[in-house]
Amino acid sequence: MISKKRTYAELMCFKRKYQYSFGVIFLSVMVMSSLWSSCQSAKYRADKRRNNVSQVRQRISINEGWRFFRYAGEPDQLVYDTRPEVTDKNDNIVADSKPTGSIAVASSNDVLKKWIQPSANDFIKDPSKKHIRPAGDPGSNFPFVQPGFDDRNWEAVTLPHDWAIKGPFYREANAIVGGGMGRLPIQGVAWYRRKIEMMPGDKGKNIYLDIDGAMSYSIVWLNGHLIGGWPYGYNSFRLDLTPFLKEGKDNQLSIRIDNPANSARWYPGAGIYRNVWLTKVDPVHIGQWGTFIKTRDVNAAKATLDLAIEIENRSDADQTVQVVTEIFLRDKNGKMSSAKAAEFPKLEKLIPRGEKLSLNNTASISDPMLWGPAPSQQPNLYAAISRVYAQGKLLDEYETVFGIRSLQFDAKKGLLVNNKPVRFQGVNQHHDLGALGAAFNVRAAERQLEILRELGCNAIRLSHNPPAPELLDLTDRMGFLVIDEIFDSWERKKTPLDFHLIFPDWHEPDTRSFIRRDRNHPSIIAWSYGNEVGEQYTADTGALVAKRLYDIVKEEDDTRPATASMNYAKPDMPFPAVMDILSLNYQGEGIRDAPAYQHLRGIRTLPLYPAFQQKFPDKLIYSSETASTLSTRGTYIFPVFDGISAPVDDATGGDPKKEEVSGYELYTAAFGASPDKVFLSQDQHPYVAGEFVWSGFDYIGEPTPYYSARSSYSGIVDLAGFKKDRFYLYQARWRPELPMVHILPHWNWPDRMNMITPVHVFTTGDEAELFLNDASLGRKKKTPFEYRLRWDSVLYKPGILRVVSYKNGKQWASETIRTTGAAAALQLEADRTILHADGEDLSFITVKIVDKEKLFVADATDLIRFEVEGDGEIIATDNGDPADLESFSLPQRKAFSGMALGIIRIKKGARGTVKIKVSSAGLQPAELRLRVK
Ligand code: GAL
Repeated sequence: MISKKRTYAELMCFKRKYQYSFGVIFLSVMVMSSLWSSCQSAKYRADKRRNNVSQVRQRISINEGWRFFRYAGEPDQLVYDTRPEVTDKNDNIVADSKPTGSIAVASSNDVLKKWIQPSANDFIKDPSKKHIRPAGDPGSNFPFVQPGFDDRNWEAVTLPHDWAIKGPFYREANAIVGGGMGRLPIQGVAWYRRKIEMMPGDKGKNIYLDIDGAMSYSIVWLNGHLIGGWPYGYNSFRLDLTPFLKEGKDNQLSIRIDNPANSARWYPGAGIYRNVWLTKVDPVHIGQWGTFIKTRDVNAAKATLDLAIEIENRSDADQTVQVVTEIFLRDKNGKMSSAKAAEFPKLEKLIPRGEKLSLNNTASISDPMLWGPAPSQQPNLYAAISRVYAQGKLLDEYETVFGIRSLQFDAKKGLLVNNKPVRFQGVNQHHDLGALGAAFNVRAAERQLEILRELGCNAIRLSHNPPAPELLDLTDRMGFLVIDEIFDSWERKKTPLDFHLIFPDWHEPDTRSFIRRDRNHPSIIAWSYGNEVGEQYTADTGALVAKRLYDIVKEEDDTRPATASMNYAKPDMPFPAVMDILSLNYQGEGIRDAPAYQHLRGIRTLPLYPAFQQKFPDKLIYSSETASTLSTRGTYIFPVFDGISAPVDDATGGDPKKEEVSGYELYTAAFGASPDKVFLSQDQHPYVAGEFVWSGFDYIGEPTPYYSARSSYSGIVDLAGFKKDRFYLYQARWRPELPMVHILPHWNWPDRMNMITPVHVFTTGDEAELFLNDASLGRKKKTPFEYRLRWDSVLYKPGILRVVSYKNGKQWASETIRTTGAAAALQLEADRTILHADGEDLSFITVKIVDKEKLFVADATDLIRFEVEGDGEIIATDNGDPADLESFSLPQRKAFSGMALGIIRIKKGARGTVKIKVSSAGLQPAELRLRVK
């Protein structure tokens, strides 16, 4: 451990080890806790603590009561900026790319950029670069921003809202939104309108609008005045409404969203897809994301806490304030202990009117309960309650949730949390929630994390953009390590209308606001400020851009490493030298270097772990992306490749007609590698700190290799949250103590009588014996660097396939699968059956098709209908098939590989029970009851 606080520069002097032993900490602007009553085994809690904190600070959800309108034809001209024309292969202009035409009442073709840029001023360091708002009030005469405009014909919506997720999917070849972005209608311009109320008691307060994410190019008007906006759809932002609010209910908020096609490599979602809040405070208050708690000298007996707290005085008089901050331990439900664990010395400071000052303070805490990743450590959290007083009057009260931990990034030992090594058993996650789209929902995100926890995953890379803030509350609470990432492109584009268009103006404010929002979350262990950016290819020029961003990251937070992921940059190029830790995408285990990849063109590298290690012996190396193994759950294609890793093509592992990739889990993207090949490489290079698999869940868009489909094939878990076979291959590695054995494929192959039908087995054991109809097909033992057991010459006969696995010679686990009869009935399973009536809680109902003996029919495809009786609604269905282009919002769904999913939302204020009835022609129906708490 380091015994005193060191600067980052000092840390860099450490030879051999890259060491951060500042444990870090975190706050999120949460509100004071309300008790949460435990609900069944699940820990679901929509964070209502974010509502009223106390009398002096209110955070009010304004998710309800919006009206929504999206242009079918030409939009208005209230654009942030002009955009380049995008042409297709034949040089035709793609219609969406450039907003033109007019029903516009705007004064001219004014571009509003100059009025929006000042919204970034708090996140621009150099005073001379801050923006000055020009005269004028663009758009003020536009009907949609007028309080009197009649929007009753507009759609009534509740936020978070993703306008595109209901579809319909574009099915045509040259769709305006193709497979890459998910074939859903994300493009175009839309408006959201809502009245907000200013109570008599609000007089004299500062009132802010806090938007956690809107996709994209938000522009906000209040009572006809242009307030500001924020182009990048993934960042949270605040606008000050105070000057234009008037007492009463008739304050009109109007938000314009402009979401271009050709702006991402995946499905971005569309609209105001995260929470929106009003924050009401005294003019003398703690600033936006205004606290930062760092921990250092962390050990079992003691830790030192450094608090920076920003006080803003927007009143018209200088104020001498006293600031008191007390620390309380939180229990698993977020409830604070009554006894304080520590306290910072009281501060007193004069804050001149109109100014913002950052005050520093230090405290020590005895016997700290440390935050560490599950399952080996406990994710303990503390709350720091800061109170601001002037002349004895309480002016503000603010909660910072944080954790106490130390981190070391050691080039040989990997990551150490609280001095204990933790290997990254990580996955990459996109931000969409499958059939729910980008609209954030706490329970849907928690379910994903629960499934990943079961897998043995302990770390998430948030590829490639900032998440909803509540996701980080979950990772803090559940004890996941997080790499928080912000950009997929810098100056050099990947798609015609991506972030590169606004990089010059927005890279600094986006990077600073990203870190300020998230820096108190103990789950975040590193900042990634780029993924596979084009600047890797431009030698010193690219490295300079990297360095510029790196410096911004370190100015905002010197306690965590800054990095950007590299799929191209080599050890002797200038790019990796900028990074604190080396984040390799695919290069570590080698790209296109196995025999089956020799015919492919494109980047080819040998496994580069050794070369990076040699060049940077003091830097931690890990794989930020591995695998890109592709598969469609429960589908198997023959013949089966006899090596351990092959690129999928129409003859090997792929079926272009059905748009399926074989579930033998051997087939990969051209640059990818099977799990087996990655494991081998990781085990041969033990200094590598672990991996982040591409990807944990399937996600919408990027359906390599079949771009006529809608969603990816790379997940360990499919889009519906159903486990692919690969789940058990990773579980076998990541949870070695769990007695587990898993067989593939299923055993319903009437057309394969006496044909070779390989059987592969994933197990935490070291040996297994396979039986077909009680005849042994042999006992096999894993050889060094072998991760699956395979019987590649099994001749198919219907019946019973049984595997018994062994560990150290002792029987360890067994599994039996059978050839089934025809589909006969439905079976239902709910992830939770006791739910909250908060209007957000969800039950995920899995439907399985079984035969008359209740055996799972793994190839059934029957059409399934969902009905709900009572105060619930079926909001989405799915089956995990990347090629299914039926709208997610339909209450019926064809089963895929024997399964389907229905997502039920309980209505706000619901009571009693909600009955779910599921039926399918010719099959015995099923029902279950959900109970509302
Ligand atoms: C990587 C990229 C990811 C995703 C993945 C697909 O190169 O960083 O965003 O595109 O490939 O396999």
